[in-house]
Amino acid sequence: MTAKNMEDLVSLCKRRGFIFPSNDVYGGMKGLYDFGPIGVELKMNLKNSWWKSIVYERDDIEGLDSTILTSPTVLKYSGHEDTFSDPLVDCKKCKSRWRADQLENSQCPACNSNDLTEPRPFNLMFKTAIGPVDDGSSFAYLRPETAQQIFVNFKNIIDSTSRTPPFGIAQIGKSFRNEITPRNFIFRVREFEQMELEFFVKPGSDEDWHKYWVDQRLKWWSKQGVSSDKLKLLEVEQEELSHYSKATFDIMYEFPHGLEELEGVANRTDFDLGSHTKNQEDYEINAKVTPNKNSTTKLAIQDIESKKWYIPYVIEPSAGVERGVLAILNEAYTQEDENNRTVLKLKSHLSPIKAAVIPLKRNNSDLVNLANKIKVELQSLGLGRVMIENSGNIGKNYRRHDEIGTPMCITIDFETLENQSVTIRDRDTMKQERVDLSNISNFYSNYFKNN
Ligand code: GAP
Repeated sequence: MTAKNMEDLVSLCKRRGFIFPSNDVYGGMKGLYDFGPIGVELKMNLKNSWWKSIVYERDDIEGLDSTILTSPTVLKYSGHEDTFSDPLVDCKKCKSRWRADQLENSQCPACNSNDLTEPRPFNLMFKTAIGPVDDGSSFAYLRPETAQQIFVNFKNIIDSTSRTPPFGIAQIGKSFRNEITPRNFIFRVREFEQMELEFFVKPGSDEDWHKYWVDQRLKWWSKQGVSSDKLKLLEVEQEELSHYSKATFDIMYEFPHGLEELEGVANRTDFDLGSHTKNQEDYEINAKVTPNKNSTTKLAIQDIESKKWYIPYVIEPSAGVERGVLAILNEAYTQEDENNRTVLKLKSHLSPIKAAVIPLKRNNSDLVNLANKIKVELQSLGLGRVMIENSGNIGKNYRRHDEIGTPMCITIDFETLENQSVTIRDRDTMKQERVDLSNISNFYSNYFKNN
């Protein structure tokens, strides 16, 4: 059972340390959120799961970690300076500002007035001054997508790795968009992370690779615990496509506020490399690109057989980390009235805390020392964070760990000191079993292998 509504998730996230409004002490800032002690682990686990499946488990993808500050020249040739905008309207009555395409009946949501300005393009990129003189002569953008730095690093990466298409470059990192109306918790925010893959292929093979990546990405989401009946594939209409795209499939998810985009998988053709390459006239570039006399670098590949140089096409699966976290929380959230509990049934690889070790009596040194030993032993298996709960309130501990999705609680009681065994409680079934201390690492590893 998924969350009943967004409020259930927002409340759980604040109460248990997943997500807080950013700058909270001063009233928060719209469209900005911080990930707390539990949220940071969930987010990291999701990113690691993506990285593992995209980079480690394959042999045709390299990683990158590039800067956020991006030269205006990059974003000029990428088309973002001219086209990365949303239609903005002002309400003439109450002076509020809205995204024209999100209004119902062209009406101001704040005061219901229909007296609005004509929509005008509002560029979503944040600008910042570079260097000590802030006179507008030297500035950078905070990147609106991680992709552009992948394209401008293309030559560095092929030269240092000897890759030829088909191959990909993956990156996870922050992106920034000055959204006109951030909303729906962490769904639409102004600062977020993207998990982006730019997969370079020979022109002509792009449509098959496009299908391949859509399929791969659907399978990956389902391995993260997102049920396939809540995912819908939507082919973006021609007139709605981004300026760089020949075709895009949006992976839509039924969020608590409605069916919306979780990830986009675009066929960016030869638009990006074709825009940033030097000597554009030397190649057959199919996309409509801005003439570029500034680039210093050839972003083309020589075909081994025909010896002809060509600009690779790009297939791009691009997923938002925050939207992923929201979907996963929504899927895992379970209200069990019969057990009077809320439980997060997360996939175990995503669980923020892998096990809680609980001495039955607070500050009892024999129990606490043993708990510490178990924590160190399990932690050394490298599966994630194991924590000690030394409050002595076992009922409260179980409730907290159910709500943050900890797969197992390990209780050290006085029997443990006598017969060297502990009680392990399973999050989902609430069943408890006695496990010998000598077998605890095995039990723990097997659980994570099988769940
Ligand atoms: N490089 C391609 C690109 O950026 P996009 O569809 O604009 O394409 C990709 O963004 C993904 O990034 C989206 O599917 C979404 O998951 C996430 N995303 C975009 N804007 C966002 C925002 N304002 N807040 C949170 N996530 C966002």
